[in-house]
Parts: sequence; C-alpha cells; structure tokens
Amino acid sequence: MREILEQLDRKRSAARLGGGQRRIESQHKKGKLTARERIELLLDNDSFEEWDMFVEHRCRDFGMGEQTIPSDGVVTGYGLINGRMVFVFSQDFTVFGGSLSEAHAEKICKIMDQAIRIGAPVIGLNDSGGARIQEGVASLAGYAEVFERNVLASGVVPQVSMIMGPCAGGAVYSPAMTDFIFMVEDSSYMFVTGPDVVKTVTHEEVTHEELGGAVTHTTRSGVADQAFTNDVEAILQLRRFMDFLPSSCREKPPHRPTADPIDRAEDALDTLVPDNPNKPYDMKELIEKVVDEGDFFELQPDYAKNIVIGLGRLDGNTVGFVANQPLVLAGCLDIDSARKAGRFVRFCDCFNIPIITLVDVPGFLPGTAQEYGGIIKHGSKLLYAYAEATVPKITLITRKAYGGAYVVMASKHLRGDLNFAWPTAEIAVMGPKGAVEIIFRSDMDDPAKIEERTEEYRTKFANPFVAGARGFIDDVIMPKDTRKRLCRSLAMLRDKKLENPWKKHDNIPL
Ligand code: HXC
Repeated sequence: MREILEQLDRKRSAARLGGGQRRIESQHKKGKLTARERIELLLDNDSFEEWDMFVEHRCRDFGMGEQTIPSDGVVTGYGLINGRMVFVFSQDFTVFGGSLSEAHAEKICKIMDQAIRIGAPVIGLNDSGGARIQEGVASLAGYAEVFERNVLASGVVPQVSMIMGPCAGGAVYSPAMTDFIFMVEDSSYMFVTGPDVVKTVTHEEVTHEELGGAVTHTTRSGVADQAFTNDVEAILQLRRFMDFLPSSCREKPPHRPTADPIDRAEDALDTLVPDNPNKPYDMKELIEKVVDEGDFFELQPDYAKNIVIGLGRLDGNTVGFVANQPLVLAGCLDIDSARKAGRFVRFCDCFNIPIITLVDVPGFLPGTAQEYGGIIKHGSKLLYAYAEATVPKITLITRKAYGGAYVVMASKHLRGDLNFAWPTAEIAVMGPKGAVEIIFRSDMDDPAKIEERTEEYRTKFANPFVAGARGFIDDVIMPKDTRKRLCRSLAMLRDKKLENPWKKHDNIPL
C-alpha cells in the first residue's frame, strides 16, 4: 500500500515539475510566473481542485513517444475567488512551449463543459506557442473544439482571458471570443500572423511588441480590455475584476455590503459642468464620485477614449457604466466608441448587470473617415445593443444630448427605465448655432439677427424641460444628489422583468 501511495506522490511531483527546473528558471528569468504559481495566486488559499494531472499526449511522431510530460502543458481545474467558484486553465510554457495538443485541448474542453453545466466563470491564463506542431491536424481539431465551446459558453458564463505570453495564429480566436481580454505588458503578445510572415508578405518590418503587444492592443486595435505591468499585478486585478461578475446568466452579480451611505451628497458635482458649453470636463470624475468607495474598474481606458466603460457598485450592487467623455473629441460618438460601448452593453445585458448611461454627446463624429469606415453600420451596434437590452437602464444627461446620439444613448424611447437630467442638460436635434445656420440660412448675412435667433433657440431647447414636458425625462435632479437618486432607482428596479419576443437569435449589424 505504501508503495502505491509513494507512486502517486512521485507522479504528482513529476507533473508539478512541468518541463523541468531549467525551463522553470527560464520562465522566471523572463519575469513570468509558472502556470501553477499563477493559479496559486489567482485562487483562494488551498481551494484549487486539479483535474487531469495525469493526462499525456498521444503523439508518437518526431520522437514525441519518448517525451511525455504529465498534464501535457496545461493545468486545469476549479477553485474559489473570494469564496466564489471559477474554472481555470493555465497553460504551462515549460512544457512544449505551452503548445496545444489534442489532449491539452480535451482538458480545456472538459472544464468548459462543466463550467457551463454548473454555471461558473471560465478563466484562461494563456501562455502558448500555439498548435502543437508535431501533432498536425489533431491539434487544429483541438483548437476548433475549444472555439465551439467558447461560443456555446458565451452569454451563459463569463469567460475571461489573461494573455501572459505568446498567443499567435488561429489561437488568438479563442480569447477573442471570450468576454474580456487582459494582457501583461512586455511579456505577452497576440497576432494572427507574426513579424516574419508580415515581412514576407507586406515588406513591413515590425517587432513582436509593435505588432501585437499590450500597448498595441489597448490603444490601437481595442482587442484587449486592459494591460497590467506584470504577472502578479495582472492576477490580483483579475481577482478584483471577478468580484464584480455574476457566476452565470442565471444569477445576479454578487452583493458586496458597503459602508458608503447611499445618500452621500457630493457638492462638487454641482459645479462639474462648466458655464461655457464648449468647455470640457472629466466625466470620470462623476463616475468616481457616485460609485461605492470610489471603486471603478475601467475597461479599455486607452482606446476610444471619447467613451468610458467599466464596472462599479452602487449600494453594493454591480452596475455597468457607459459615459460620453467630453475631454476627448468633445464626447462625440464614432466607429470605435460605438463598437467599444456596444459590446459592453451586450455583456451587461447577458449577465444581469444594470446599465447606467451618462450622457454628454454633441452627436456623431462627421467626416469621410467615419462614413467610409462604416459609421452607419458600426454606430448602429450601440443603438441595437441598448434597444435589445432588458436589464435595468438608467440614464443621466449632464449636458448635451443632441440628435441621433441622444436617441442612441439609452433614451426613454429605447426602453430606458429612468431617464434623468441635470439642470444643465440641453436636449435638442443639434446645438443652437448649427440649428440656426440651417433653419435661418436666408438671414446668414445679418449677424445681429442670427445672434438673436441663436439665443431664441438656446432658450427654447438648451434645457431639459422640453423633453421633461413630454415625459422623455422622468426628473431633473440636483447634481449633488446623483448617487442617492441612482441608488434608489436601482433598488426600485431590482426585480424588473422584461422579455424580448422569442427568436432563434437576433441579427445585430456586425
Ligand atoms: C511544439 C513548441 C511550439 C509549438 C514552442 N515549442 N512552440 N513545440 N509546438 N507550437 C517548444 C520549443 O520547441 C521549445 O522546446 C519550447 O517550446 C520553448 O520554445 P522557444 O522557441 O525556445 O521559446 P521562445 O524563444 O520564448 O519562443 C516562443 C515562441 C516560439 C515565439 C512561441 O517557440 C515559436 O515561434 N513557436 C512556434 C509558434 C508557431 O508557429 N505556432 C503555430 C502557430 S499556428 P524546448 O524543448 O527547446 O524547450 C497555430 C494555428 C492554430 O497555432 C489554429 C487554430 C485554428
């Protein structure tokens, strides 16, 4: 009996050693943790239950028969984050460069299937050289099996990808289909074709980092939602992030009791909006002042900065914020911001997260770049997302809400539950100057008359009361009371029930 127990011990130790001490040291030298160290840091103490530690690949070509390493380059199982269950896979770069074999894929699929059945998030810690080259099509089939599950799990359980090393070729499409992608600066990259292929085909010379590093994907492509400076910070932030999310679409997000009073007044908000309508201000200040304890997890902070998205809590309950940012492009909507916010609205709707929309938008960004780029299609994504969302939707117009952008930003007409405005709100088809230049074009050579007409338009429309008179705005609130009004509204909406007509699935403009 003792011999059998010792044998188990030996097998476990071999698996824990992955690709061996030399490769572990090489991983550390690059400033990276190993797959198991990452899991240890991610999950609550002693909560990890590992599966399939003894799985080995079945490849016998290219001398692979003599090189089997238990766990086969990926550590899988489940555990707890602050007491709540998550499934996790962590690719082990020390074993064949974390490359994905048929057996490696089967391990990932097994935890995904179980996560869908029981309703728990799936976290992928990605660090892989891609398809296991020695296995050929068997490895590609493995990827396809994972992709299929990414799609089946989408909207059922949250899926989060942390890129902590290479992620190249078709392998990028698994993270791409998860809800969020986070990256580690300087040690991770993602691209469909690497620098060598790029050079051969397009003659461009580009480094790994320039082509697909964290800076590229958080500022230019918008593929990644956030980047962190190293493995430890990334994993601690991931724990913080998971605390905002429900375990599945069948649940509400967890409630986290707070000492922050719901009726906390913020006098500074009364002066947030400048007197001059053309002067910008920082919309993030409003978010940070109203959320519980100022705790706001912003997503994509360096991409399409004209819109701010992220998660926070009000009275202990998770909410998603979508907010125009007057500091950038005057808060205009454009292709990138519509895509960024549209996907986030859909995420919130999937997972029962109420949406708070903060509006200061002069309209859609004009220009050929936008029109040729398809603003019509892309802009409609945000409109579509808001219109189909059935979660509680609370909207607050702080200043401008002009034209189509007024409608898009969770207006009453898109089933907004509560639509508030600050007294500084201006709700109209367009700004006074633009409006007068069109409707009084014949008076354009008389500046005094134009000035008078502009003032008339401003008095009539640059306020929230015309919309209020029609019930499109439920109330005009004092800025300093914003937190209280939002918290009360959310409490009222807690058991909201709304369903869309039955369909196989919708056809959002892609
Ligand atoms: C098998 C691999 C591997 C792979 C790396 N290794 N990638 N083994 N299949 N895909 C092994 C190496 O042989 C090496 O083994 C160990 O992992 C570490 O690799 P190094 O090259 O020494 O590490 P590094 O210098 O850090 O470079 C990492 C790398 C490079 C950039 C990832 O290894 C690389 O370019 N690998 C190939 C990437 C690739 O072309 N993958 C296929 C992509 S196509 P030893 O024994 O020396 O430690 C794809 C299609 C998916 O993935 C399609 C889905 C539909």
